Amino acid sequence: MAYALSINGVTRTVDVDGDTPLLWVLRDVLGMTGTKFGCGMTLCGACTVHIDGTATRSCITTIDSIGDSKVTTIEAIGATPIGAKIQQAWLDHEVPQCGYCQSGQIMSASALLADKPHPTDSDIDDAMSGNICRCGTYVRIREAIKLAAQINGKAG
Ligand code: FES
Ligand code: FES
Repeated sequence: MAYALSINGVTRTVDVDGDTPLLWVLRDVLGMTGTKFGCGMTLCGACTVHIDGTATRSCITTIDSIGDSKVTTIEAIGATPIGAKIQQAWLDHEVPQCGYCQSGQIMSASALLADKPHPTDSDIDDAMSGNICRCGTYVRIREAIKLAAQINGKAG
């Protein structure tokens, strides 16, 4: 069945079964490989995208559940003001190690700052606890989120 999806501000039409996970469509049908496959079971956060601004695990989000919602992926998050601040803070703190988890981390962090421009440590823990990093970059992620929040305060 054909589905018209709004992805990064562009309508993309895909012909897939309705129960196909969004992650599969992004990577295998549309060739958008920035969003990563980790566990396929909502356990790691590597596949995180935004659906109408909410951080969402694309590995268990079926295509027929998306409807008219707007999907944003790591390929476009840098075009948003908050995404740009997050990415700059990631660079300033040299957050990534192997990098595999980082697109999911950035998507979760940017959704957090959009919701809470100046998050507490507890807010950060709550928002980021589902994003696993095998390289243990958690301390740098926390510092980068705090830096991005400071930039948020200065630049609005
Ligand atoms: S691949 Fe979706 S949460 Fe791990
Ligand atoms: S940077 Fe390697 S898994 Fe997170």
